[in-house]
Amino acid sequence: MLKIENVTVRFSGLVAVDNLTMEVENNTIHSLIGPNGAGKTTVFNVISGLVKHSGKVYIDGTDITKVPAHKRVNYGLGRSFQNVIIFKYLTVLQNLVLGFHHNLNYNIGDEIFQTSKYDKYERAATLKAIDVADVIGIKNLLGIFAGTLPYGYQKLIDVARALMSEPKILLLDEPAAGLTEKESDILKDKIKRIKENSVTVFLIEHDMRMVMDISDKITVIDFGKKIAEGRPNDVVNNPEVIKAYLGAGIEGVADNG
Ligand SMILES: Nc1ncnc2c1ncn2[C@@H]1O[C@H](COP(=O)(O)OP(=O)(O)OP(=O)(O)O)[C@@H](O)[C@H]1O
Ligand SMILES: [Mg+2]
Repeated sequence: MLKIENVTVRFSGLVAVDNLTMEVENNTIHSLIGPNGAGKTTVFNVISGLVKHSGKVYIDGTDITKVPAHKRVNYGLGRSFQNVIIFKYLTVLQNLVLGFHHNLNYNIGDEIFQTSKYDKYERAATLKAIDVADVIGIKNLLGIFAGTLPYGYQKLIDVARALMSEPKILLLDEPAAGLTEKESDILKDKIKRIKENSVTVFLIEHDMRMVMDISDKITVIDFGKKIAEGRPNDVVNNPEVIKAYLGAGIEGVADNG
């Protein structure tokens, strides 16, 4: 579904991603983990087309290395960001509809004069929003102003909005950050549902409980280099990984098996 090949990113002297090659298979939840500053977000920025790099990026076998960031949505790439951006004074429905812009093919005249083209767009966007809200379990919140909801729900809206672009693969950068344990469990179930709806998920997450529970495969990077890859239990018991995480809590995860 997604492949990056020999990707290197340099920030004036610092090598943030170091000749990284990896693949995310279709219909899996694949996690990218590593200590702070390991280069995880930078990998997502490479895939999104937001950072200069060497090497190649493929989606579904198509080389998108030279495709500009805003056009990658047309290749099936969806993304939510480490910092949530929610429009507080819009309803949940309106926030979701904003994520449908990949299908935008009406102009301002259509909107002002409420032409059938605009009507059709609005109907399609609303139907899609209801669909997505159903998957994420926020259908009963569609009419509520987003700003009045707890942070955990705002996070869900952010994920739901990313789904509005009908991605084949969804990149989630630390979706559980700032969530309570309970909220994080809810989010975990939603991510599983996203996969059941045939969307591949590529996840960056520090919450090891979540990573261990939902990942089909884990890639571990340290200083921009891949140090381990495989099924969750193999990866956390890998000595290289334990070394990289020393003092960061992953040992506890390995001990608990
Ligand atoms: N735009 C930038 N300019 C310069 N250096 C950057 C830039 N973006 C990231 N870096 C550096 O590149 C390295 C990797 O950063 P990145 O944000 O990818 O790490 P990360 O694994 O996502 O970390 P975290 O877990 O803290 O989110 C870090 O040393 C960071 O300081
Ligand atoms: Mg990051």
